[in-house]
Amino acid sequence: MIIAIDGPAAAGKGTLARRLAAEFDYAYLDTGSLYRAVGLGVLRAGGKPDDDVAAAAVSLDLDPALLGDPALREERTGDAASKVAAMPEVRSNLMEFQRNFSIHPPGSKQGAVLDGRDIGTVVCPDADLKLYVTAGAEVRARRRFLELQQRDPATKYEQILADVEARDARDTGRADAPLKPAEDALLLDTTELAIDAVFLRAVDLVKERL
Ligand code: CDP
Repeated sequence: MIIAIDGPAAAGKGTLARRLAAEFDYAYLDTGSLYRAVGLGVLRAGGKPDDDVAAAAVSLDLDPALLGDPALREERTGDAASKVAAMPEVRSNLMEFQRNFSIHPPGSKQGAVLDGRDIGTVVCPDADLKLYVTAGAEVRARRRFLELQQRDPATKYEQILADVEARDARDTGRADAPLKPAEDALLLDTTELAIDAVFLRAVDLVKERL
């Protein structure tokens, strides 16, 4: 069973993916963390996230320590991630790991849940279930703001909203694997739907396919 979950920043993909993986004992891969690790690796080396040679080198030999770095979740890392994510070489360097994870989930699990931007369209076009999770930009920015504010009380909502909107524009506008729902994806709008309701709906959809 391969479950693909795509959608824009802070739509609730990660929470849904994690809960589904726990419910069915499937492996979970947050593919955004791979792009974040590449962005962070470039920043840590003193480079600029729009330097494609530097980003390609980091993505070719990704240091696993970056994936556990607390700075991975910062908004500036998300911003760098969406810049390196527009580079075809970076995307192709990260592809094999993601495909392999979906086909041979670690721990010999019976299924895999992957979340990202292009899972249903490019990484796993034959996924058994494709969900596109979305919500209005202000609702998403509010959620991300509350999350980041716990770590840094100086976080400003207006700044987070601007960051989320800039990232959405970059993710949907790029030529390679842009963010968009797969033709056979089911749309789940979390603007007014609570995460529990989204989760229960998704559980039913997985059971239908089992
Ligand atoms: O958690 P959030 O939704 O803010 O972002 P993320 O899933 O961690 O992804 C960070 C960035 O990586 C996104 O803005 C995308 O540009 C990029 N990404 C991508 O291009 N393809 C994926 N499959 C996953 C993430």
